[in-house]
Amino acid sequence: MNTHRISVFGLGYVGSVTAACLADHGNQVIGVDPQAAKVDAINRGRAPIVEEGLGDLVARNVTAGRLRATCDAEEAVSRSDLTIVCIGTPSRANGDLDLSSVLHACGEIGGALRHQSDGHIIVVRSTVLPGTIRDRVAPALEEASGKRRRDGFSLAHNPEFLREGTAIRDFHNPPKTVIGADDPRAAAALRALCTEIDGPVLVTTIEAAEMVKYADNAWHALKIAFSNEIGNVCKAASIDSYEVMRIFCHDTKLNISEAYLRPGFAFGGSCLPKDLRALTYLGRRLDLDLPVLGSVMPSNRVQVEHALRRIVAMGRRRVSVLGFSFKAGTDDLRESPLVELVERLLGKGFDIRLYDRNVNLARLIGANREFVFRAIPHIASLMVNNVEAALEHAELVVVGYDEPEFRSIARRIRSDQFVLDMARISERDALEERYDGINW
Ligand SMILES: NC(=O)c1ccc[n+]([C@@H]2O[C@H](COP(=O)([O-])OP(=O)(O)OC[C@H]3O[C@@H](n4cnc5c(N)ncnc54)[C@H](O)[C@@H]3O)[C@@H](O)[C@H]2O)c1
Repeated sequence: MNTHRISVFGLGYVGSVTAACLADHGNQVIGVDPQAAKVDAINRGRAPIVEEGLGDLVARNVTAGRLRATCDAEEAVSRSDLTIVCIGTPSRANGDLDLSSVLHACGEIGGALRHQSDGHIIVVRSTVLPGTIRDRVAPALEEASGKRRRDGFSLAHNPEFLREGTAIRDFHNPPKTVIGADDPRAAAALRALCTEIDGPVLVTTIEAAEMVKYADNAWHALKIAFSNEIGNVCKAASIDSYEVMRIFCHDTKLNISEAYLRPGFAFGGSCLPKDLRALTYLGRRLDLDLPVLGSVMPSNRVQVEHALRRIVAMGRRRVSVLGFSFKAGTDDLRESPLVELVERLLGKGFDIRLYDRNVNLARLIGANREFVFRAIPHIASLMVNNVEAALEHAELVVVGYDEPEFRSIARRIRSDQFVLDMARISERDALEERYDGINW
C-alpha cells in the first residue's frame, strides 16, 4: 500500500474520482474546492457528482480516515507533499482555454508553498494546451511561492483519460498512464503513485504529455465523425454500415494499427486521391454533406504548400530531390505529391535535380508516363543516375521518402549543404541546424 500525503484541487468529475481512488490505494488525501457543497458532500461520505461506484468509494475512505475535503487551500497544501490539479479548463468563445481557475489555484498553491520547505510536487491533471505548464503554470507558481521551479518545487503533467460513467474502472485500468516530467523527482513520485494502476506507463516531456491528450481526443473525435460519414453514405446507398465497419475494423494491419500514423509529407499515388474523389462524388450524388471526407484532399494540398514554403524559406536555389515517385519501392509517379512539389519549384525558378532508383523514364508506360511528362515535360534533363550526382548538384537535399540508400545522407553531404527530410531518415542529429524535418 502507498502512503503518500496528497492534496487534490478541484472536486469535479476528474478530481473527486482521483481523490477517492488514490485514498482507496492507501494514500492520505485532502480534496480542495471553493464550492462548499462539494466539500460537505465528501466530508459526509457522499459523492459530489454522479458517477457509478463513487459514493461507496468516498464513504469507505472517509470512514477509514484517508479522505476528507476542505475549502482551505493553504491547509491542504501544507498537509501534503504532492498536489494534483484537477480544475476545469473550459473553452473561451474563441476556442482558447479559460485558465483563470487553474491560475487562481496556482496562486493559492504557491502562496502556501512560501511557508513550506522545498520539494513539493505539483501535478497538473487538467487538460491544458501544449506549453501552458511551462509558460503559465510554472511562472504563476514561482511568483506566488517565491521559489524556483525544480529547486523549490517540482512540476509534472499527468493527463487524464477517464470517461464519465466508467470513470472508476478507467482510473484503475486506463489505456495508458502518461507522465510528463522534466524533473526526475516528479517522475519518480508519479510512478510510485501509479503502482496500483494497470496498463503501460509512458514517461515523456511535459509538452509532449500536454499534446498527447489533444492528439488522442482529436483522433477519437475524427474516428466518430469518419464512421458517421461512412454510415451516412452506407444508409443512403442501402448498405449495412455495421457490416462495412465490422469488416473495416477486422483489418488490424492497415486500418486499426500504427500504419499511416507517422507525420510526414502528403499522400499520393493511383488509389487514395482517386478513391477519395469518387467517394465524395458519391456523397454529392446522394445529397449528403461529407465535411470530414471532403476536407482530406484540401488538407493534403496544404501539406504540399507547407513543404514548398519550407524550401523557399531555406533560401537555397540548387535543390536535389531524392525519391520522387509517390512512395518508396515503386516507379508509380501518378499523383505523386513530390512530382507536384518539383513542378511548383521549377515554376519558381529553382535549379532541380531528381534521383529515384525505381524510375526509369524509358520504361515508363501508359498513364504513369503521361502523368509525369504532362507535369514536367523536360524531366529527362533533370534526372541523375545516382545519389552522388544528386549531392554534387545540391545546396539543399530534399529526402522524399525513407529508402535505405538515403539513410546515410547525413554522413555524405558537404558542410555547406542542407537537408529537408520528409520521411524522418535516421541520422537527423548529425546535421544539427543544417537539418530540417517537415513536421518534427
Ligand atoms: N470530465 C472528464 O471526463 C474529463 C476527462 C479527462 C480530462 N478532463 C479534464 O480535467 C479537468 C477537470 O475536468 P472536470 O470535468 O473534473 O471539471 P469540473 O468542472 O467537473 O470540476 C472542476 C472543479 O474545480 C473546482 N475549482 C475551481 N477553482 C478552483 C480552485 N481555485 N481550487 C480548487 N478547485 C477549484 C470547481 O469548483 C469544480 O468543482 C479539465 O481540464 C478537463 O478538460 C475531464
